[in-house]
Amino acid sequence: MESFSITRPDDWHVHLRDGAMLSRVLPYTARRFGRAIVMPNLDPPVLTTADAEAYALRIRQCLVPDSDFEPLMTLYLAESTTPAEIERASRSPVVAAVKLYPKGATTNSARGVAALDALGPVLDALERFDLPLLVHGESTSPDCDVFDREREFLDRSLVPLVERHAGLRVVFEHITTADAAAFVEQAPARVAATITPQHLLMNRNALFQGGLRPHHYCLPVLKREEDRQALVRVATSGNPRFFLGTDSAPHSRSSKESDCGCAGVFNAPVAIEAYAEAFARADALDRLEGFASHFGADFYRRPRNRGRIRLERCDRPGPAAVGEGPDGLVVFFAGEALRYRVVGPD
Ligand code: DOR
Ligand code: ZN
Repeated sequence: MESFSITRPDDWHVHLRDGAMLSRVLPYTARRFGRAIVMPNLDPPVLTTADAEAYALRIRQCLVPDSDFEPLMTLYLAESTTPAEIERASRSPVVAAVKLYPKGATTNSARGVAALDALGPVLDALERFDLPLLVHGESTSPDCDVFDREREFLDRSLVPLVERHAGLRVVFEHITTADAAAFVEQAPARVAATITPQHLLMNRNALFQGGLRPHHYCLPVLKREEDRQALVRVATSGNPRFFLGTDSAPHSRSSKESDCGCAGVFNAPVAIEAYAEAFARADALDRLEGFASHFGADFYRRPRNRGRIRLERCDRPGPAAVGEGPDGLVVFFAGEALRYRVVGPD
């Protein structure tokens, strides 16, 4: 196709950060997406409804005049979270969901949850007040192989949680394995998953292509080729339980290219183009709109966006970085050919 248009998409999983980083990265998300689910793993985290409302305001203050981008906020589930806080969150016009980080699983997860069992009353409250639980699905047990963390979390924690809380809506975030895809396919309709562009376009070989590649490192880490293929299959299947969540997670070049590099891929500047590339490679561009623009809104029970964006054939590499030097942000897929680019609203 030379050119095509889709309903304006939403990003159901993004890290916008705060302060100077927020001002640098927000424009890339806000110019493409109508809404975004904003992750709460700031330091300190977004623990309360009041924190989320203040953060939403800081985001709005960073938007260009007349932007109609809507940040949808999340609370960071901690062992200190109370059912009363969940009730408050459910009444807030800006809070859309609550995020579960297993303690120590990823960036700024030190305040995350070590013992899920202790959270029963809070999970009951999520169910009662109908707020979705977003899950970073990785086991943190020290003897678990890093490539098995999602699988172990699924078996030991997620399956029992979904069974125990029969009315809870759950998003299994940034799934990376064939096992996770199969689980969501056979789970009840209240369970969905987001998929990132990097997990659709790369497998774990990309981490070691000609040397160590820190800019391909994110959590959950890239998996095997058969996992990537399973993700492409479900993303392009038209199954509404799989939808777009970029997990765009900026870190400066110096914190990625380091002794102990941070996890996170900054894909916001090319996110739609990268998803289009993955769908084009699978000969499934006709399925992109559902995945990118319809299914997430339906799951979160929000109206689909009304505007449209147009993509045009281009076969050009995307931008390599935002900013220069150690503070620069290396962009996902830098230097690789992308066969479509967004040419603006339709
Ligand atoms: O790669 C990641 N980066 N995975 C996460 O779960 C967190 C994120 C971040 O905040 O940098
Ligand atoms: Zn994330």
